[in-house]
Amino acid sequence: MKLLILGGTRFVGRHLVEAALAAGHAPTLFNRGQTAATLFPGLPALRGDRRVDLSALAHGEWDAVIDCCGYLPGEVERSAALLRERVGRYLFISSISAYAGFAAPNDETSPLGVLADPDTELVDGASYGPLKAACEQQVRRHFGEQRSLLIRPGLVVGPHDPTQRFSYWPARFALAADGGPLLLPGRPGDALQWIDARDLARFAIGALEAGRHGAFNVVSTPGQFSRGDLVEACMVASGRRPQAVWVDDARLLALGAKPWTELPLWLPAEGEFATLMRSANAKALAAGLRLRPMAQTVADTLAWWRGLPPQQQRFDKAGLSREREAQLLAAARR
Ligand SMILES: NC(=O)c1ccc[n+]([C@@H]2O[C@H](COP(=O)([O-])OP(=O)(O)OC[C@H]3O[C@@H](n4cnc5c(N)ncnc54)[C@H](OP(=O)(O)O)[C@@H]3O)[C@@H](O)[C@H]2O)c1
Repeated sequence: MKLLILGGTRFVGRHLVEAALAAGHAPTLFNRGQTAATLFPGLPALRGDRRVDLSALAHGEWDAVIDCCGYLPGEVERSAALLRERVGRYLFISSISAYAGFAAPNDETSPLGVLADPDTELVDGASYGPLKAACEQQVRRHFGEQRSLLIRPGLVVGPHDPTQRFSYWPARFALAADGGPLLLPGRPGDALQWIDARDLARFAIGALEAGRHGAFNVVSTPGQFSRGDLVEACMVASGRRPQAVWVDDARLLALGAKPWTELPLWLPAEGEFATLMRSANAKALAAGLRLRPMAQTVADTLAWWRGLPPQQQRFDKAGLSREREAQLLAAARR
């Protein structure tokens, strides 16, 4: 297949390009050239800022476009309208956050979020999900149901993840002293869910090859992974055996700990996002989703993190600083 990839050089897109190449397809990249511009030197690269200039896409035909960097319905509207006559199908990387709520686990038929302000261009924690839902609508509007493939990943993890939300845990263990305290949120039995970017990429390319359409939650199987399993996998991968200090939801909340960001992969069981990590994946499994074992994701992520230059090994976007962790540990023990 001739594939046009909007984005493609950071994380999810980079794995999509690699999966496309591994399967023998021919990707063309479109981006601004600001992020890892030399990553795929052999591939045709079209340049432009999708928010202001799509002229580089004025000509050319492709079997499918894969949109990895669509966040605003206006920008997706413009690319979909421009490409609809010259591109077979539109694969949009959406998100599990597109669902209206997380009081109960979502499958692909669950209602989607609606923007409080339909004209907003501010992408933040509150608007990100409903904006993704609005982007999906634009894809469907221009490409129709049969030519739209809407991929809704959960937390995407693995090597090259810039968000630090998963790498924090294997790295935290690697930095720990044997027997030293390490703060763990919630309980060992808490259900965790994510998708390894490489499994996501393989599924997306396979779904295009198979001519699939419609929406797919692309996540690990609900209940497949627990926090206790993650702790064990981090200990095995890092070779460290710190002393796990479990602090329950209520105590952490009372101490002002911030779910998801300060303590990645922690969503209190009673909170607004209680079932975010319990989304249904039966439809994607039936369509060919294959999930690698947690141990592989943890080991590969740790190996990637260890290979980063020291200044990039910091956790400044997600995770606890050591001082904050010590403060929370001391308070939790009081
Ligand atoms: N991480 C998660 O847990 C998660 C979960 C669910 C869904 N998602 C979705 O997965 C995608 C993740 O993105 P990623 O960053 O990993 O994708 P990526 O395709 O690897 O990287 C972003 C790409 O977009 C390009 N880009 C950014 N702004 C652009 C613009 N204005 N015009 C043209 N190109 C632009 C960047 O290149 P230049 O900078 O050179 O332009 C880069 O190639 C997003 O759609 C996100 O919503 C992520």
